[in-house]
Amino acid sequence: MRIPIVGGNWKMNRGTPEQSKEMLKELIPLINHIINVEIVIAPPFTSLIGAYEILKGTNIKLSAQNMYFEEKGAFTGEISPNFLKEIGAEYVILGHSERRNIFNESDDLINKKLKKALNIGLKPIVCIGEHLEEREAGKTKEIIKYQMDRTFKDLKKDQIIQTVIAYEPIWAIGTGKTATPEQAEEIHVFIRGILSQKFDQETADLIRIQYGGSIKPDNAEDLFGKKNIDGGLVGGASLQANSLAHIIKAAEKTFN
Ligand code: PGA
Repeated sequence: MRIPIVGGNWKMNRGTPEQSKEMLKELIPLINHIINVEIVIAPPFTSLIGAYEILKGTNIKLSAQNMYFEEKGAFTGEISPNFLKEIGAEYVILGHSERRNIFNESDDLINKKLKKALNIGLKPIVCIGEHLEEREAGKTKEIIKYQMDRTFKDLKKDQIIQTVIAYEPIWAIGTGKTATPEQAEEIHVFIRGILSQKFDQETADLIRIQYGGSIKPDNAEDLFGKKNIDGGLVGGASLQANSLAHIIKAAEKTFN
């Protein structure tokens, strides 16, 4: 049995400490009764400490949007996973397509970050997904396999079990074009199949695979209703307490 996980990724869209506190104070009473969904919020770095103060003792966990793979040293502008842990972050998003495409992060770099996160006890949410041209060329599965081979290279069974995978077709992110529940489920089944080849079926069945890309209150339930879709990573619709609460409730409703 996999508990669905819904993550709100605020990116650089919301997040002065004041805005974050305001939004979280609005969100908490809407969803504080929910126990069958793991709820994670990823504000910008500068709001993490303030957010932690508000989220302490609630059912909402804190995530960072990125980290570096070294713990300490001369890496101007980077953030150590230890710093994140120390301020109460439990999760970290790694390999988001915006990191891959805008900041040129490679599968190899993401693999290093992933291993470090697991080593120090931060739970990773690792994003994979294809570009529109790749989908149109019928290469989606090939791309997903390629990314998984490299991103999850040398991971052990107990490590992959700690990892949440987010399937995020790049053409669906921030575009309003959601993958249909059938399109998403097909790739989630494929990802689980690769996990069962790399590890075993039992392990593959334990790993949560989120969908991400233009999830909205009105499409969440259909997506989460699919057997292999274990919640979602939400960008735009996570910026308002009401719409995020609606999406979290859709995950609770479809949990069985
Ligand atoms: P979106 O972003 O919901 O705004 O499409 C999803 C994501 O980037 O994780």
